[in-house]
Amino acid sequence: MTPEQQTAVEGLLRSHAAAPGGLLPLLHAVQDQLGYLPPAAVPLIASAFNRTRAEIEGVISFYHDFHTEPPARHTLRLCRAEACQCMGGEALAAQLRDSLGLPDEGVSADGELGLIPVYCLGACACAPALELDGRLHARVTPDKLRQLLQGLKGGEGAC
Ligand code: FES
Repeated sequence: MTPEQQTAVEGLLRSHAAAPGGLLPLLHAVQDQLGYLPPAAVPLIASAFNRTRAEIEGVISFYHDFHTEPPARHTLRLCRAEACQCMGGEALAAQLRDSLGLPDEGVSADGELGLIPVYCLGACACAPALELDGRLHARVTPDKLRQLLQGLKGGEGAC
């Protein structure tokens, strides 16, 4: 954790630690500000809330949306649910595994792209679907996926 991150965590602790039920809002605030929850912040949080480190780590690991690693520059959430599977989503998953050298979830070696499987994006009628940096892409073909990934490499953004 950098000195700047520690200062940020300490500031957020001052405004959340005394509030009833303040732990989850504090964790969200830290992640919102830093992009993730640095493991080195856990002892500070545990001390401020008079909890053990294991208790804080248990809360963090319980919720899927808390992250303990710095985020990738871009996030791709690929739908792996049934409608998308039936409409070519598994081929997209295989394409991502090949092109990123990742299993179905993780961050590319260069830190550029984080891949997260999700189970329905609410776009089943337009399957297969994925979300790239918060933007939904539907009826995704292998060519379209290739173009999206190429756009990231070119620094042009998702679309
Ligand atoms: S199953 Fe993929 S968007 Fe619903």
